[in-house]
Amino acid sequence: MRYIILLPLLILGSCCQPTSNTQKMQTQIDSLQNKLAHTYRPGFGEFMLVIQIHHAKIWYAGNAQNWPLVKFELDEIKESLDGIREYCTDRPEVASLPMIDAPLDSLGNSVKNKDLPSFKNNFVLLTNTCNNCHRATKHEFNVIKLPDSPPFSNQEFKVH
Ligand code: HEC
Repeated sequence: MRYIILLPLLILGSCCQPTSNTQKMQTQIDSLQNKLAHTYRPGFGEFMLVIQIHHAKIWYAGNAQNWPLVKFELDEIKESLDGIREYCTDRPEVASLPMIDAPLDSLGNSVKNKDLPSFKNNFVLLTNTCNNCHRATKHEFNVIKLPDSPPFSNQEFKVH
């Protein structure tokens, strides 16, 4: 009598164990996916605000011929652009990003050659390209220009 009761229970237990493990794992996957979907990621506009700051710093560092600082700020812009490529994959505007690569390279060459007139020309070219992309992505109301005053009073742009 005891066997008659135990046997079906045994069969039921062994057959359903994997299913309940799979279910447990699925629940964990679902909860992790949910967490990932709600993890903070910087938005396109936040990257742009950071790029705006580096853009202004480049102008003051370049005019002071502080080439190591210009190079540093240029690399920071490139890092922010990489961040857009990595975190803003849902934004179609990412497709327009490559237009900024050539002007950034040209500015990099001015820095390598420590050439102030070429720096100024290439900075204007870079700024025009910011605006070209804003037009291409229907953000033409975000107009970037050469700065009139240093972005921060607590940073030295001259060479020490
Ligand atoms: C992919 C093309 C593209 C390029 C290249 C680009 N931008 Fe933008 N920019 C955008 C888009 C799209 C937005 C709107 C982002 C949003 O939805 O918040 C934007 C927004 C901005 C904003 C407004 C941010 C705010 O919240 O006030 C600034 C400032 C800005 N960009 C600066 C620049 C500067 C400076 C450069 C050049 C060094 C540049 N952008 C190059 C596409 C571009």
